[in-house]
Amino acid sequence: EKGNFEHYMLKEIFEQPRIVKDCMRGRIDLKVGQISLEGLKNHTKQLKAAKRILIVGCGTSWHAGLIGEYLIEEYARVPVEVEYASEFRYRNPVIGEDDIVIAISQSGETADTIAAINLAKLNGATILSVCNVVGSSIPRLSDGVVYTHAGPEIGVASTKAFTAQVTVLTLMALFMAQNRGTITSSQLIELQTELSTITSKMQTVLDVNKAVKEIAKRISAFGNCLFLGRGIGFPVALEGALKLKEISYIHAEGYPAAEMKHGPIALIDANMPVIFIATKGPSYDKVISNIQEVKARKGNVIAIATEGDKILKEIADEVIEIPAVNECFLPLLAVIPLQLLSYYAAVMRGCNVDQPRNLAKSVTVE
Ligand code: F6R
Repeated sequence: EKGNFEHYMLKEIFEQPRIVKDCMRGRIDLKVGQISLEGLKNHTKQLKAAKRILIVGCGTSWHAGLIGEYLIEEYARVPVEVEYASEFRYRNPVIGEDDIVIAISQSGETADTIAAINLAKLNGATILSVCNVVGSSIPRLSDGVVYTHAGPEIGVASTKAFTAQVTVLTLMALFMAQNRGTITSSQLIELQTELSTITSKMQTVLDVNKAVKEIAKRISAFGNCLFLGRGIGFPVALEGALKLKEISYIHAEGYPAAEMKHGPIALIDANMPVIFIATKGPSYDKVISNIQEVKARKGNVIAIATEGDKILKEIADEVIEIPAVNECFLPLLAVIPLQLLSYYAAVMRGCNVDQPRNLAKSVTVE
């Protein structure tokens, strides 16, 4: 049921704080300071010994995988590779018994992801999955599963399933770090404490969505849009671009901001809106110079910024503020305005938001 919302997608965007909270319930224990993940309980040995982790998925789930890579490498210090399930499937990948494959899928029925799992299984790898639909094919093929518990996602464009996947991957990264001893218990408590406040920050981001509506109106008039970010902000840029193209049919691309000078900068003129993930963090100064490069070429800059940022108010055309947050949890906040932007842009363009043309909720063909 859509309740008071005009579309399922909007309802699902607004459900996110609650979903993320549910997703952490019983898995975070601030008193004991431990992460517990039922689905990984029988695989602690493999996780501890793992020399490499491979993440596979498609579309939005693949973007969640890129965030997972960042988090697992940051906290658990294991090398991670992220692959499109469809590409992994059609080459001759080097994979064996010592490898752990994490398959990410909302539906649990994506044919390419299933094929990748089968290939990895054939080579003896341990298969763990991050799934939303309980009892679907992917969990059944896996050795261990961590469910996202986001509830049924009706809108074809994935929103709440994505933030739930990112939440689960954050917990998995911390779980692995705890097992491998790559994190101190005080760090672990600190991170869990911060993580448990993320949902109220997500709510704050949702509450400012009026500003986003105005910006969406401007974007809806353009035929193209660039999304740029660095570090953990890069997969967020990719996800923002995918959302915009799939529901509003505006051509959009996500790029690491530093790659702009190697080609995409040629596209910049007064008709090219550029959305930057420009929050305070390790790459803030670099992103500011990237923004100046775009401004010098008359591009239209929309910045996702940390609350109270005065510099961006000066140099960007539009600013969307989000609360300050640990860099590792940034995607959970920064993706929300991008989801809303594409939602409102699509509505303004008269598109069928919940059922965009040519797309199906689960892609069961290879
Ligand atoms: C984008 C979207 C798709 C899916 C992809 C994988 O909004 O919904 O890109 O993310 O088809 O689907 P799952 O996660 O069900 O394997």
